[in-house]
Amino acid sequence: MQTPSRAVTSNQTGLHPRLAEHVDRHARCEFLRPLAPSGLEPFEQAITTWQSHGGSLIIDAGCGVGLSTRKLAHQFPDAFVIGVDQSAHRLQRQTRWQGSEPSNFITVRADLVDFWQRMALARIQPLRHYLLYPNPWPKKAQLQRRWHGHPIFPTLLRLGGHLECRSNWKIYIDEMALALTQLTGLEVPTEQWLVDPAIALTPFEQKYVTSGHTLWRCAIHLPPSD
Ligand SMILES: C[S@@+](CC[C@H](N)C(=O)[O-])C[C@H]1O[C@@H](n2cnc3c(N)ncnc32)[C@H](O)[C@@H]1O
Repeated sequence: MQTPSRAVTSNQTGLHPRLAEHVDRHARCEFLRPLAPSGLEPFEQAITTWQSHGGSLIIDAGCGVGLSTRKLAHQFPDAFVIGVDQSAHRLQRQTRWQGSEPSNFITVRADLVDFWQRMALARIQPLRHYLLYPNPWPKKAQLQRRWHGHPIFPTLLRLGGHLECRSNWKIYIDEMALALTQLTGLEVPTEQWLVDPAIALTPFEQKYVTSGHTLWRCAIHLPPSD
C-alpha cells in the first residue's frame, strides 16, 4: 500500500503579501535569461515530432512519469501532446498503462523555463496547457519559485491557449488565479477539484486524493497574443 502523503504545511497562511508586486515587476521587464544550449535538442526533437504528426498542440508541463501525457493524448486523439519534465529519473520510470499506447505524444527532458522561452521565440501556441501539481514551494520565501511568482510567468501567458493548473495547496491556486487576473484582466474562478482516484489524471493526483487531501483547480482561456 502507498504511504499516505502529508498535506502541504507552510509558514505562509494566506495569499503572499508581495504577489501583486512580483507579478507586476515581471510583467514590466522582459525575461532575458540566456537560453541553455542543452535545451535546443530536446526542444527541436519535440517540435519536429509534433509537426510531422500534425494536430493542435497540448503541453503537459512538469509531466513527471508521463501518465497524464498519455491520458491527455488518449482524451484528445486529434491533438499532439508534449510532456516536459526536467527529471530523467521520472521520465524513465515505467508508466502503468494498459493496452497499446497512443501515438500522438512525446515526453522530453527539458527545463520548462527554457522550453517556454523557446516556444515564445518560435511563436508556437498550444491549444491547451496543463500545470498539474507543480512543486508548491510553500515557504513564504519561495514565492519566486512558484510558476506565478517566477519571472517566466508573463511569457507563459503570452503562449495563449486554455491554461489549467491543479494543486493540493489552495493558496497556490488562489495565487495563480489572482496573478492570471492581474495580467489578463479576466476573472479566474478557483474551484475544488473532485476526483475519483480510479480515474486520476496523474500519479500525484491519485496519491493526494487517496491520502484524503482536498484538491483545487483554476483554468483560463488566455487571449491570443499579437
Ligand atoms: C510534484 S511533481 C508532479 C508531476 C506530475 N505532474 C504529477 O502530477 O504526477 C512536479 C514535477 O515538475 C517537474 N519540474 C519542476 N520544475 C521543473 C522545471 N523547471 N522544468 C521541468 N520540469 C520541472 C519535476 O521534475 C516533477 O516531475
